[in-house]
Amino acid sequence: MNNLKKVTHIADFQRLARRRVPKMFYDYADSGSWTESTYRANESDFQRLQFKQRVAVNIEQRSTQTQLLGVPASMPVALAPTGLTGMQHADGEMLAAQAAKNYGVPFTLSTMSICSLEDVAAYTRAPFWFQLYVMRDRSFMEALIDRAKAANCSALVLTLDLQVLGQRHKDIKNGLTTPPKPTLKNLLNLATKPYWCSQMIKTPRRTFGNIVGHAKGVSDVSSLSIWTAEQFDPTLCWDDIEWIKKRWGGKLILKGIMEPEDAQLAVDAGADAIVVSNHGGRQLDGAPSSIAALPAIVAAVQGKTEIYLDGGVRGGQDVLRALALGADGVMIGRAFLYALGAAGQAGVERCLEIIANELSISMALCGRRTLAEVDRSVLRNPAIFD
Ligand code: FNR
Repeated sequence: MNNLKKVTHIADFQRLARRRVPKMFYDYADSGSWTESTYRANESDFQRLQFKQRVAVNIEQRSTQTQLLGVPASMPVALAPTGLTGMQHADGEMLAAQAAKNYGVPFTLSTMSICSLEDVAAYTRAPFWFQLYVMRDRSFMEALIDRAKAANCSALVLTLDLQVLGQRHKDIKNGLTTPPKPTLKNLLNLATKPYWCSQMIKTPRRTFGNIVGHAKGVSDVSSLSIWTAEQFDPTLCWDDIEWIKKRWGGKLILKGIMEPEDAQLAVDAGADAIVVSNHGGRQLDGAPSSIAALPAIVAAVQGKTEIYLDGGVRGGQDVLRALALGADGVMIGRAFLYALGAAGQAGVERCLEIIANELSISMALCGRRTLAEVDRSVLRNPAIFD
């Protein structure tokens, strides 16, 4: 992609990614569970929140600077943990982490990444966040926590909304595997993806970097769902957080909170931050959008932890809407995945630039100079989700 300046919004990246990334991996990103109603609502509910346009305010000096868990960030955005990112683009996790570092925002590495904790640490030489699933094999979890510490990770993101795997039709129909099996259908599709193939040929990383060795033979969606059913711990309960927090000993973010009762329990469990998230509409279809769930959680938490939101954020305007309703920051999943698939590290950097510009300009048009000036009065109808 020579001229990324002509990519002006995330939908451009999505179109490019659809063209450039093998169908099974593009579909893996662009899908939700069952009817995908929650996946769609995550995006469309943002549009229901209208801004108040304000004029004749001196907004020449503006800043999107903030702190996330006490660490300065150029804007209130972090890259969400996403599995198989190294299949959207060769070495995808390393490149996305480097882009996040260059842009001054946190990157989160998924347990189910292609590049390992050690790969990302060696490549970026900078702290990042590590996302952990709760698994039955506690010694494996302990090993992952210790590896995250050794890799200098600055926060542990514990995902609570995947005790069982939500069904995504497309993955089953596509026969998702990593790497793709050399079937005629896959080979014909790969033949139309020269950019992806030319990058992928340069790297040895093809399967789950953090769990390879532990989960032998797990590469396709059916063996992954069997492994998930066997490994991911359906008995997980709030008491488990205690030993994880103790073993980790650093900042803990609890991800997948959608109800005020659970937010309260997360506060009681000692979370430093929570992520209001329905896993991007990939788990419980029929749950509300994340933005609709946010206000009640903000009211319940009363500032006792930081609150991040993810799900459906496709630009800086969505960031501003989430902040207006009380979030301290947002995480982006598909927005950066599409950019990565379209154009690698430069794509992710451009994605962050687009979001930052959109946030800054929208703040200005609402008459706000700093994030401290952003509250519900930025919106005309802030109460629609109360
Ligand atoms: C995810 N998500 C996710 N979450 C997590 O905690 N661990 C993981 O491994 C993954 N994997 C994953 C893969 C893909 C392809 C997607 C799209 C999402 C959920 C992710 O962290 C985040 O909650 C959503 O992506 C947010 O929604 P948007 O921004 O994608 O709409």
